Order: sequence, then C-alpha cells, then structure tokens
Amino acid sequence: MDPLVAAIDQGTSSTRFLVFNAKTAELMSQHQVEIKQSFPKEGWVEEDPKEIMRSVYECMERTCEKLSLLNIDICNIKAVGVTNQRETTLVWDKETGEPLYNAIVWLDLRTQSTVESLINKSPGKNKNHLKHKTGLPISTYFSAVKLRWLLDNVEKVQQAVRSQRAMFGTVDSWIIWCLTGGNSGGVHCTDVSNASRTMLFNIHSMDWDPELCRYFDVPMEILPTVRSSSEIYGWMKSGSLAGVPISGCLGDQSAALVGQMCFNEGQAKNTYGTGCFMLRTTGTKPLTSHHGLLTTVAYKLGKDEPACYALEGSVAIAGAVVRWLKDNLGIVQSSSEIEKLAAAAGTSYGCYFVPAFSGLYAPYWEPSARGIICGLTQFTNRNHLAFAALEAVCFQTKEILDAMNQDSGVPLTQLQVDGGMTSNRLLMQLQADILCIPVVRPTMSETTALGVAMAAGAAEGVGVWNLSPSHLPNVTTEKYEPQINPDESEFRFSRWKKAVQRSMNWET
Ligand code: G3P
Repeated sequence: MDPLVAAIDQGTSSTRFLVFNAKTAELMSQHQVEIKQSFPKEGWVEEDPKEIMRSVYECMERTCEKLSLLNIDICNIKAVGVTNQRETTLVWDKETGEPLYNAIVWLDLRTQSTVESLINKSPGKNKNHLKHKTGLPISTYFSAVKLRWLLDNVEKVQQAVRSQRAMFGTVDSWIIWCLTGGNSGGVHCTDVSNASRTMLFNIHSMDWDPELCRYFDVPMEILPTVRSSSEIYGWMKSGSLAGVPISGCLGDQSAALVGQMCFNEGQAKNTYGTGCFMLRTTGTKPLTSHHGLLTTVAYKLGKDEPACYALEGSVAIAGAVVRWLKDNLGIVQSSSEIEKLAAAAGTSYGCYFVPAFSGLYAPYWEPSARGIICGLTQFTNRNHLAFAALEAVCFQTKEILDAMNQDSGVPLTQLQVDGGMTSNRLLMQLQADILCIPVVRPTMSETTALGVAMAAGAAEGVGVWNLSPSHLPNVTTEKYEPQINPDESEFRFSRWKKAVQRSMNWET
C-alpha cells in the first residue's frame, strides 16, 4: 500500500479532514463538519474555539472509520498537515487549556474605530504606514487589532497576561497546541504564512517585530514560535492517529497555492471560499503593490529553504454571499441551489449586488463600505438576485486581477481556480466571460488540503512526498473559455464600479 498523508482543513465555514495517496495525490477519504458562526452585535463575527476542536476530532475519527470500511489501514497515514482560515484570533489559558474568549473571525468589524484612529494618528493619515514591514494596510482584517481588542476588553485575558498564562494564536496554533497535548505539553507555534497575517510579523526579518508589538502594545511572550511551513512540530497525542507527526502548516490560501503547484514566479491561483483570494507568486523577493494588494509570505517549505512571497488580492465576501441568501433571505434551501436559480434568470437584468458586509477589502480597503443592491425593478425576482450575487464574485475577482496585472506588468493569460464554489459551472463560465481570459479548474478541487498534505509529507524526517509538479500524475483540469463580447463584459463591469462607489458613499 502506498503511504498516505492527511490534511486538517479548518475553514471559516467548515472543518474537513482529507486523506491522500502520497504517490498519486488521489483523495482516499474525507469528512466535513459545518462550523457555527455567531454575530453577537452588528459587524461582529465569532466562532467557538472548542467547537472548532470538536469538529477537528470528529472529522479525523469519521475519516478513519471510512478508511477502515474501505479496508485501508490507517497506519499508512505518515503525516498530518494543518491548514486554516487565517487572521482569526484566539487567546487561551496555557494552564487550564480553556479559551478565554470566542475566536474573533477575520471578517469581524468591531475594531473599525481602532483602525480609523490608528490611521488618523499615522503620518499623512496613511493606512499603509506599516506596509514596509508587514506588507499590509492597517485594517480590521488582521490579527493585531483583534488581539488589541481582547487585551482591552476581556478581563480574563488581562488576568491571564498578568499571571503569564495567556497564549495568543491564529487557528493553526490553537489546533496544533491542542493536538500535541494542550495543557500537558502542547507545542505553541505557527508558520511564516500565518504569522505574516497578524501585522506583528516582519516579512523581511521573518520574525515577530518588537516595534510592531510596541505599536499595538502586545506582550511578546504570548506569541507562538514561528516555524517553517514544512517540518515536524510535534506528534498527535490521542485518538486513532496518536503518534503521527504534524509536519505541515500553511494558511489556507498559501496551501492552495502549493496545491496548485504555483512554485514559479508569476504563477497565480484564485480560491473561492467564504471569501475569495487571488495569490500570485513573486519568488524569494517581496514585491510592493501600488494598486491595493497585499504582500504576503506564501510559504517556506522547510527549515533551511528560503521563504517565498506572493501578491494577494483579498475579497471578504464570495461564498458568504450565497450563505447570506440562504440563511438571511431564505431564497435558497442549500448553497448548491444558487446555480439553478441563476441559470433560470440567465442575467441579473441590470441588478448589481455589492456584498460589502465587512466593508471592502482589496483593492479599496474601506471598512465603512456596506452592502448594496441596486438597479431593482418590479420585474426583478430572486433568480436575478442569485445571478447578481454570483456576478458580484466575478466582478470582485476582475478588480483583483486588474490590480495584479498592473502591479506585475505581465497580464495573466488564464486563471487557475479552486475552492468549493468552483463546482458551480455557471459561476466558472461567468468568471471567464467577465475576465475575458480562460478559467482553469482542477477536477479535484481540494487543492488547499492537498497543498498542506504535500508540505506535511515533504517535511524533513517524514519524506513521503516530493514537492514537484511531476509528482502529481493524476490531476486533470477543466477549462472555461470566454463566450461573450469583451465590450459587453466591459459595460457590465463599468456598471459594477458605479455600484461599488455607492457602497462606499452610501451615507452621503
Ligand atoms: O484570510 C481569510 C481566509 O484565510 C479564509 O479563507 O476559505 O475560509 O474563505 P476561507
């Protein structure tokens, strides 16, 4: 039997455990559990850290059961990788193992006034004041301001910091700490890709930055150790996989970049999850964007390997708009129904939907923007709305692609895509039509999990996977060619841009 490698994929909306054949990349089995989000106040988004861990354990155990039913011995699982929703911020007590507050999710807007006052205080009121060190604009999106909020507002967190019991982490750190023993010896670490999303990490020196920590007034002793994305961090302490090394850690967008084999400068991918994230590899040198993109650490595949960087265009709301249509408006019963509705309309009939529920991220970075639907008539029905929602995902991607092309000076000639929404064929065709370039999706869309499983398998001391495209024999793709006239696409995009302006100035 070929060796197997596994991935924990803890996303914003669900947790998954997936097991791959390390020689062929074939997906052997998987299990998925949805994660509850709570919205305690307008703009706040939280998740329960204990529920996250329960979902991780459940997914692992159920997948192991499924493998046994297939007569596959779980002893063949040689390594586990962790990939995760990035920026989401947790603080827990290292003595009791108890989380001290809910996880504050990356989409959360409670720090909007903190962000505004930091920007107002910076020289020239410049939101890019810290970009030379972090690659990021000051925004509600990143962990530092969320951690600041916890330190200012949660007494249990303040007490734990005073008594040196507090541990801060993004979701990867929390999962690895729990799986390697928690309060009886768990490993407190993160990898460079996750660290680069906190705003406390210097993407040039590749370490926590004392000046940034002072700026946000964050005690450095609560931060995890920063490691590479592919090395043994520790071993599973309990459950069916006890003793298996955890040897891969990547933020989910970085993992997708690896899973799509974007190892060469200029290669890019776009992942459609809760949000939508386009990353373009820039090699071992960080490139600064002049068009609203982030500079981020993509991965460092081994202790002694160089770090690779990427330009990133982050869109806050992609799949989340479909979940909103389902949960808040009830116009679909399940997310997959959206395709049928949109297909029945075949057009938005002049309706434009800017889902700026968490402000607007790239390229605008405008936390005060709010969602807007315009162009409604008595003729508009839920099918048109469904179409407009999908079109919004495509327009947002076009804005990012345009910025990326301007920054790099070399236009992309086709777009590699992945993520849950890519099984929506109408969306994929619409995306090719709006971008006016072909869109290519792997038929195995779990590239995020595959990426971190590869990193885990390639770690020193595990060595069951060679990270090169020639080691992925079984990956086939599907290509969507643009089918509409570029003028029509341009016309629709110009209307979208007008709607975006309204969403940013809706109060005036
Ligand atoms: O930066 C947030 C991102 O990592 C979340 O990804 O897949 O949960 O939308 P996803």
